[in-house]
Amino acid sequence: MEIPFAESWKIKMVEPIRKSTREEREKWIKEADYNLFCLKSDQVYIDCLTDSGTGAMSDRQWAAMMTGDESYAGARSFFELKDAIKTITGFDYVIPTHQGRAAENVLFSALVHEGDFVLGNSTFDTTKGHIEFRKASAVDCTIDDAKDTQKELPFKGNVDLVKLEKGLIKYGDKVPFIIMTITNNTAGGEPVSMENLKGVRELANKYGKRVIFDSARFAENAYFIKTREAGYADKSIKEICKEMFALADGMTMSAKKDGLVNMGGFIATRWEDWYEAAKAFVIPFEGYLTYGGMNGRDMAALAVGLIENTEFENLHTRIHQLKLLASLLDEYGVPYQRPVGGHAIFIDALKVLPQIPKEEFPAQTLAVELYKEAGIRGCEIGFILADRDPVTRENRFGGNDFVRLCIPRRVYTDNHIRVIAAALKNVYDKRDEINRGVKIVWEAELMRHFTVKLRPAGGK
Ligand code: F0G
Repeated sequence: MEIPFAESWKIKMVEPIRKSTREEREKWIKEADYNLFCLKSDQVYIDCLTDSGTGAMSDRQWAAMMTGDESYAGARSFFELKDAIKTITGFDYVIPTHQGRAAENVLFSALVHEGDFVLGNSTFDTTKGHIEFRKASAVDCTIDDAKDTQKELPFKGNVDLVKLEKGLIKYGDKVPFIIMTITNNTAGGEPVSMENLKGVRELANKYGKRVIFDSARFAENAYFIKTREAGYADKSIKEICKEMFALADGMTMSAKKDGLVNMGGFIATRWEDWYEAAKAFVIPFEGYLTYGGMNGRDMAALAVGLIENTEFENLHTRIHQLKLLASLLDEYGVPYQRPVGGHAIFIDALKVLPQIPKEEFPAQTLAVELYKEAGIRGCEIGFILADRDPVTRENRFGGNDFVRLCIPRRVYTDNHIRVIAAALKNVYDKRDEINRGVKIVWEAELMRHFTVKLRPAGGK
């Protein structure tokens, strides 16, 4: 028998979780206005809301925290972080920020202007928010196949190079940069191939543009290049990372994902002019240049986290759990974005609940049902998250409507994964009995999914 050697760590500290009854959960979700972000974490049994800042640090990271240097300027921990980033990306200039969206805020304040068009694969909602907030537009040039959830392609996060080139010609001087999100969260945590990143670089060079990687899950992207792309099987994750980042001019980073920390982010670039431009914004928005929103100890832990999470074994343990969840859902027939990506499984709600009209938000409806079933908190990555069109104010129903179930890094065991799969099976088996969705009773203008208030459609 083959020995399933997937684990690369063991558990040294545990946190209790509490089961609840269906009756309690029905009351709590009503009190939360049917918005899973509004639940208290104690009301959740397994939390798959996000993989952002929810991971477990290693003993080596905790040890590094004790060595953190809290000097206001020139902290040693900053230089440790800078060295780790240089080792992995090759970038010389580093600006820490308190998280990924802060990196976007600082860098885009310097680079994005009213009337601009930012091209790339799918931008995450905070990235889109920071672009639209500046009265510019994000143009999604992801391959059309990414929308077909049942199509098996190794790199469904790729950009369509023909669409990208058309955009570069059409918008010309109005394109401040190209942004590639690795992995492509919005499309399902799907990776981007090295070949595609090379194609983007060629187009960028042809049209005189620079390229930013939104790198929140860059290490998972490198794992998929190693395991799925011809020619990379024998390269280390760190070698692949170096090769990826050699194709970019800079990066924004939410360190809460592949940095293996609970809070933090940064901008890194090879260009002094970008660094100088961003400097003007980091000081008023975040903090001084060598801490920019982070504690010294957090920078020290991040430096270790970046090195740890670019080890194959660590990534393999994680992605094995996603594969386990996917294989159980295959067994139960639950449709999801195929093949499973790096950080989450994306359930295709339009296929599960075809009877619920788009106006009643099928994915949100399904996420609420899953919570009621077993206290599992997922997140809608669909029509609510897509926000309204800034010009017409119409809902954007053009994309997929997913329930995203994220797996936090190094937090849950394979048995938690089996609980998630069993709960999904139960909801799936009862899907024909779900005959009404939800309606919005209050929403914010931008990034509405965090605070939206909902009611059962047709109800009060
Ligand atoms: N870019 C991507 C691809 C992201 O997934 C996120 C956050 C950000 C940028 C913003 O980073 O949260 O540190 O400010 N994604 C989280 C998620 C929130 O749940 O997918 P942040």
